[in-house]
Amino acid sequence: MTGIVLEGEDLDVYRIQGGEKLRGSVRIEGSKNAVLPILAACIINGGRNVLYNYPDLRDVSVMLNILEVIGCKVEKMDDMLVVDTTEILTSEIPDKLVREMRSSVVIIGAMLTRMKKTILSYPGGCEIGTRPIDLHVKGLRALGAKISEVGGYLLCEAENLVGTEIGLDFPSVGATENIMLAAVGAQGTTIIRNAAREPEVVDLQNFLNSIGCRITGAGTNIIRVYGVKKFKPTEYRIMPDRIVAGTYLAMAAATGGNIEITEVIPEHFSALLFKLKEAGCKLKIEKTKIEIESPKRLFSVDTIKTLPYPAFPTDLQAPMLALMSIASGTSIIVENIFENRFKHVNDLIKMGAKITIEGRTAIIKGVKKLYGAQVEAKDLRGGAALVLAGLVAEGETIIDGIHHIERGYEALHIKLELLGAKINKTIELGEKE
Ligand code: EPZ
Repeated sequence: MTGIVLEGEDLDVYRIQGGEKLRGSVRIEGSKNAVLPILAACIINGGRNVLYNYPDLRDVSVMLNILEVIGCKVEKMDDMLVVDTTEILTSEIPDKLVREMRSSVVIIGAMLTRMKKTILSYPGGCEIGTRPIDLHVKGLRALGAKISEVGGYLLCEAENLVGTEIGLDFPSVGATENIMLAAVGAQGTTIIRNAAREPEVVDLQNFLNSIGCRITGAGTNIIRVYGVKKFKPTEYRIMPDRIVAGTYLAMAAATGGNIEITEVIPEHFSALLFKLKEAGCKLKIEKTKIEIESPKRLFSVDTIKTLPYPAFPTDLQAPMLALMSIASGTSIIVENIFENRFKHVNDLIKMGAKITIEGRTAIIKGVKKLYGAQVEAKDLRGGAALVLAGLVAEGETIIDGIHHIERGYEALHIKLELLGAKINKTIELGEKE
């Protein structure tokens, strides 16, 4: 095929021949949303940290780049990551890297504890919403940080962080984590009320306690941080990725397949498990593994509302929406967390799905069949939803923009191929529409 090769465009695509049932077993990788704040937390102890079970993802590479640019030494050895933060040479975080991954904003809390200052460009919005950081800034200022926004930059300094009581207007995951990171070395005790209860916050607490911090309550809506003066190096194993786990189960259910996912913590994604059962799937749930057996045809489910943990997670909304597009009956999904997280719907409709959007509500009228098409991933979880649809569609689906998907799913096409999917990753040389 001749065509113009566009400079700099990410030309990788997934090509999927739909119709294969997924079968076999897949080990679920470490959690992206746990390892990112933990990598920021490594800055605090100024020592050698060894992390096990880290996921090899684009977002992790960006965070590792940031750590190296500010002076840390990073070394990958098999499934072990050594992060030595003995030396921090600058407190300025490179713009390009902050823009590439807005969740680098949790670096502020860690840098204030270690360096008492940092400068980074304002982490703008992303594909799924404006992503404000007002709750982060309000919490950090309550601890005594001076944060000014000058010319698109956040100038942050805190000569003296003092523990206090903070009430979050919304149980923001990132704001909870940022406040924890700034409070660990503050004078006195910090209480975070209406804290996020996500498992990734618990993983951060456990990591921080392993470097000598004293934190209790993560996983509940009240977290207490007792400031300490000394920190120590650590070795820590990252928790499994509950969103990746749920995505594989949804993909298996879509294909009428029967797979086992291992090294998971089932209660971390019980809201999804209940919905898969409602849809007619049989689940054999053990301590660290789950086997799913899918029905010939899935049933539609009662209204799904994305809400903070332990309710149905926003990160599984897109895969679940794609799954319900081939169920019998009509399903309703309300996206309460992010204001722009239905960008996968148009491409699903292009594949034959019958979906209407009314504000934050998606009404999905199940169809018997989807048809392969050329589609484009616009964000991480929406991209995963398109892969799910491609696995079950008749014919070939070509998915562009897969760099979004590779931010959060480690070697997705390889693992799916090992489960029997007909999927490969190729470079698409050809006229862009
Ligand atoms: C974390 O993002 C996750 N990212 C997201 O996963 C996840 O969707 C989200 O939590 C909710 O569970 C990481 O952990 C790296 P929030 P975060 O602060 O911390 C509003 C993925 O796909 N808000 O809980 O940014 C915000 O606009 C990603 O892996 C404010 O208004 O989420 C949103 O509507 C996507 N002001 C809501 O809160 C603030 O200061 C939830 O955001 C902060 C947030």
